[in-house]
Amino acid sequence: MEKQIAVIRGDGIGPEIVDQALRVLDAVAEKYGHTFTYTDVDMGGIAIDKWGEPLPAAMLDKCLAADSVLLGAVGGPKWDGLPGDKRPEKGLLALRAGMGLYANNRPAKLWPQLAAASPLKPEIVEKGIDFIVVRELIGGVYFGSHTTAECGGEQKATDVMSYAEHEIERIGRIAFETARKRRNKVTSVDKANVLDTSRLWRKVMHRLAEEYPDVEYADMLVDNTAMQIVKAPSQFDVVVTENMFGDILSDEASMITGSIGMIPSSSLGEGSRGLYEPIHGSAPDIAGQNKANPIGTILSAAMMLKYSFDLDEEAAAIEAAVNKALDAGLRTGDMMAEGCTLVSCSEMGDAILKNL
Ligand code: NAI
Ligand code: MG
Repeated sequence: MEKQIAVIRGDGIGPEIVDQALRVLDAVAEKYGHTFTYTDVDMGGIAIDKWGEPLPAAMLDKCLAADSVLLGAVGGPKWDGLPGDKRPEKGLLALRAGMGLYANNRPAKLWPQLAAASPLKPEIVEKGIDFIVVRELIGGVYFGSHTTAECGGEQKATDVMSYAEHEIERIGRIAFETARKRRNKVTSVDKANVLDTSRLWRKVMHRLAEEYPDVEYADMLVDNTAMQIVKAPSQFDVVVTENMFGDILSDEASMITGSIGMIPSSSLGEGSRGLYEPIHGSAPDIAGQNKANPIGTILSAAMMLKYSFDLDEEAAAIEAAVNKALDAGLRTGDMMAEGCTLVSCSEMGDAILKNL
């Protein structure tokens, strides 16, 4: 298979962690007979320095011409003083909008070797945590009208939440398709006992569930879901929900797994092209020191192979190689524990490559 990947190294630890992920992709290409070619894309602080804006149009075009996009992280104190629309993070928002990405997918997987880092009790962790939150990304209350007005001698603020059927259906499809690549179970999260948007959400999801009879389906209210994520997370496979609920639940889900440096993510829209990135930022405090954990980025590359290129076996091979490095007791600083061996970013990359 031949694929062209747009690569955004970004700022801070971005270049260090992306380089490790590219080494892993190259090793996979060689082992399985694929050709991956890379196009460098400037985005974020580095693009501001070079081109005067966080995502020049030509850079977005490069991403749109690629089969998928791999991103490290952007931003840092150097650009903190810039006005809102000139900041590095603006590049990320423009990229998501420009690529039409409406589904943000964040796996919450607890690696058994890092179980002690989870804030949950051992008897809960033992049952396994391995689910993915599929969050609607460009609709709902975050994108509704926001107003503040004078009303009866005080100020009154209003935020409008709305969803159209097609917006619900397209995110629902991503959830059901994702479940087919995992353990075939979808939990749709809403607040249908109160909100009209949620009642419509539920209606559309039920219609979709009939189209996917092989996928087990359940509804769950969002407040109950917040409780179940800490009480019995092993029950979940794919959790699909609207923008604001997903924002909150995906952060809750990432905390129960331990280290921020381990968690990948994808953002998807129409077609197979996606944006793949670790959930952490550019970690300016450790940038340029070869100390960062590259695993979140390496697992993001694995997600790209699985969800954009249908290369399930190759993705599984990367996960197995990561698992083996953790089994061997290798840890970067963020996940270091007693009895383990402290390694650098590139040494972690070396170990994962060797395991491949
Ligand atoms: P951060 O995620 O960059 O760092 C938080 C803490 O986690 C730091 O102590 C950092 O050293 C550590 N950390 C993060 N990733 C790590 C890794 N792979 N290995 C080891 N340790 C790791 O969040 P922070 O400090 O709030 O933001 C720093 C910059 O990153 C800001 O400019 C922010 O706007 C930007 N940012 C960018 C994101 C993106 O590109 N998607 C997402 C979040 C923040
Ligand atoms: Mg958030």
